[in-house]
Amino acid sequence: MVHDGALPRDLHALAARSLSVSLGFGSPNAARRCITIPAMGQFLDNVPFSGIIRIRDMMYSVADPFRLDQGDVSFDAPDTVKSAMRRAIDENRTHYLQTTGVPRLLELLAEKMRRQNGMPIGSPDELMVTTGGIHALYIVCQALLEPGDEVILPDPAWPPAVSNVLAAQGAVVTCPLHERLGWRYDLDELESKITPRTRAIYVNSPHNPTGGVLTRADVERIAEIVRERNLWLISDEAYEDVIFDGGEHVSPASLPGMYERTIPVYTFSKSHAMTGLRLGYVAAKDPKVRERMKKVLFLSASNVASVVQFGAIGALEGSQEFTATFREELRARRDLFYDGIGRQAAGVLSGTPRAARSTPS
Ligand SMILES: Cc1ncc(COP(=O)(O)O)c(C=O)c1O
Repeated sequence: MVHDGALPRDLHALAARSLSVSLGFGSPNAARRCITIPAMGQFLDNVPFSGIIRIRDMMYSVADPFRLDQGDVSFDAPDTVKSAMRRAIDENRTHYLQTTGVPRLLELLAEKMRRQNGMPIGSPDELMVTTGGIHALYIVCQALLEPGDEVILPDPAWPPAVSNVLAAQGAVVTCPLHERLGWRYDLDELESKITPRTRAIYVNSPHNPTGGVLTRADVERIAEIVRERNLWLISDEAYEDVIFDGGEHVSPASLPGMYERTIPVYTFSKSHAMTGLRLGYVAAKDPKVRERMKKVLFLSASNVASVVQFGAIGALEGSQEFTATFREELRARRDLFYDGIGRQAAGVLSGTPRAARSTPS
């Protein structure tokens, strides 16, 4: 029987009472009584599971599905990843590893974040690898939020971003992305969502599901807001490579004074077509926040799968040409899609491709 009252104040006393009941002590009728187990973790009942993932799970029971289910590219992981993984298996690199990641991998990632994202990473110790970007977000939310802390998320949003805030017992406050602005914020509106309970703003650019990209001016204004209001910025940059038409991806942590208060989140799922291999990474300058994140990482995964980490080293040490190939293929598919929509469903569906521009059009 599940008891759905308030949480017990004295868990030890309750455990002792439950034990005495189960052992038949306490009263003559004890053996016939059922044990009351307090309902812990009830808040999880209000954390939505992903609709997309429900469909994905169903899809595996269909013989030859035509897949329209999720952001899993049809490319395969580059050969550099596969051969490094094969080598790691042959060399029996199948044992426990450092909690936050293999040092060589963290070194390569720190270099990438300095060079490509323009972040002032001090040392690879500021990074940790995770079991995909979703795990990174889980860890960040658990480490940053107290129950009831508000996080401002875009509407629409990638659903697990919302669920991860709820799973950390945070409160979700949404701010619309506007189609008329190329699926970007009205930044005055974003600022108006801040309350004394706001702990963080979560931004995701390039954005899933709309494809909207924040401009440099947007990121500068968001940075100003975050600094002035003393907030954290969670920057989900899963799609950093999917920028078309000469657009620019701006990592907020590259702006002055922002690395200290930004937790940037990345994933190999999209950049290296490694969705099933599960590898993400995240940086945190603040040692206290980092220590909390490390605990959650350890408790939820111990360490990221060894062979996958060696695969990522292979990816980063090898040629990065596939990024441009992936991007070009995705751009061609986007153009085909818009062309088809324009010709076959004119007046039913609308929309035009947009690049990130410094001023909205
Ligand atoms: C916006 C966004 N962030 C993060 C992720 C995390 O991906 P993964 O957990 O596969 O690394 C995804 C995946 O679809 C995403 O769309």
